[in-house]
Amino acid sequence: GSASDAAPVRHAQWSSRLAFILAATGSAVGLGNIWKFPYITGEYGGGAFVLVYLACIAVIGIPIMMAEVALGRRGGQSPINTMRRILREDGRSRHWALIGWLGVAAAFLILTFYSVIGGWAVAYVVRAGGGAFSGASSDGIAALFSGLLASPGELLFWHGVFMALTVAVVARGVSGGLERATSILMPALFVILLVLVGYALASGHFSQGLRFLFSPDFSKIGVGGVLAALGHAFFTLSLGMGVMIAYGSYLPRGVSITRTAVSVSVMDTTVALLAGLAIFPLVYANGLEPSAGPGLVFKTLPLAFGQMPLGGLFGAAFFVLLVFAAWTSSISLLEPLVEWLEEHRGVRRGIAAAAAGIVAWVIGIASALSFNLWADVRPLGMFAAFADKGIFDLLDYLTANLMLPLVGLATAVFAGWVLSPRILEGELSEGRGHVFRLWRFLIRWVSPVAVAAVFWHNLG
Ligand code: PFF
Ligand code: NA
Repeated sequence: GSASDAAPVRHAQWSSRLAFILAATGSAVGLGNIWKFPYITGEYGGGAFVLVYLACIAVIGIPIMMAEVALGRRGGQSPINTMRRILREDGRSRHWALIGWLGVAAAFLILTFYSVIGGWAVAYVVRAGGGAFSGASSDGIAALFSGLLASPGELLFWHGVFMALTVAVVARGVSGGLERATSILMPALFVILLVLVGYALASGHFSQGLRFLFSPDFSKIGVGGVLAALGHAFFTLSLGMGVMIAYGSYLPRGVSITRTAVSVSVMDTTVALLAGLAIFPLVYANGLEPSAGPGLVFKTLPLAFGQMPLGGLFGAAFFVLLVFAAWTSSISLLEPLVEWLEEHRGVRRGIAAAAAGIVAWVIGIASALSFNLWADVRPLGMFAAFADKGIFDLLDYLTANLMLPLVGLATAVFAGWVLSPRILEGELSEGRGHVFRLWRFLIRWVSPVAVAAVFWHNLG
């Protein structure tokens, strides 16, 4: 039959293109933009890293996001079943469903440490609200942060609070409530970031920050930096984990996947760049190090809050919004596993969410302790490549820099080379088919070759 005869009975759909954009943006915009992007940019030396990252978003991220959303809309089910259905229909090997499995595993592993960092953000709501930043020197702000990291009990408590928030939403089914909240909170986050960029503009060190972010010096990025930029493109757009397949399954026909994928990616990238523009001028204004690592946001922005009028209020608002951004992302990390437990194992949603959340919390303890008691543990220390990586760094590296690009590569090869073109053509063709042809060229040649080249380079 034709494509539409074969379309499955659909479950609920997003009420509109906007609702899908909100949910997908909610998943994409998170700690990756405001916490991770600035600190890895700092570690890999700035401009050249940013340029490679932007290129990865444009020629690898967007085409793969389009592929995932198109697969999802075509299959109309959870990622694993969507893959199975399409494979059956197109007469392809069932082994490609492995893409779905690896994605679920990667999402779960990421959740274990994502929640630890989400916990830092929750802790900072309380600190900001309590006036802890007001008038503090950069040493005082740095001491606040190292105090938090040095306390295993506090870290585990906030990690637990954040995980509980995540479980509460997923247990109810991704609710109208959170979806609606996203539509207010995302714009609010945007506004507060603009205020911070304005503050940075006034700090007198804006041009230095600008230069750090945008003037590329390729001698600084190194081989590892290119892989990190690629991995971060996947991480920040929530790709390689089946999340966009799942969200695509709710997308009504007639909505342009191309336009949607481009808008989500542009919003995600804008938030990351704004965060960079807010943070790096402060780094220079206060004599800090761009390469301060995972604590960078927590050591810089509070300085601004400590100095501006109504800073306590602004600071608390900012960290509340950061928690929300992280929250709408973490539910999309937990959802795939819970959906699978529900569909395939007949576990009730509430129980599945709680059980998965508890296991993720327990595994996350290792990441939390790697900032204090287990700071010297090097699980893969016997391999030169991992000799300097503690538990948190290692998990982050293995998921973002290896698993996601590998699943992404498999997705590109699958969508570009294995699947009959007609399967996705109906989802992606627009105008006179120019978009589909451009997408097909990117997904067959550019994305897989680029990912493979980066891997190859890193092995050599
Ligand atoms: N994209 C999120 C961020 O940038 O914070 C992180 C994330 C969420 C990654 C969901 C993957 C995912 F499936
Ligand atoms: Na992101």
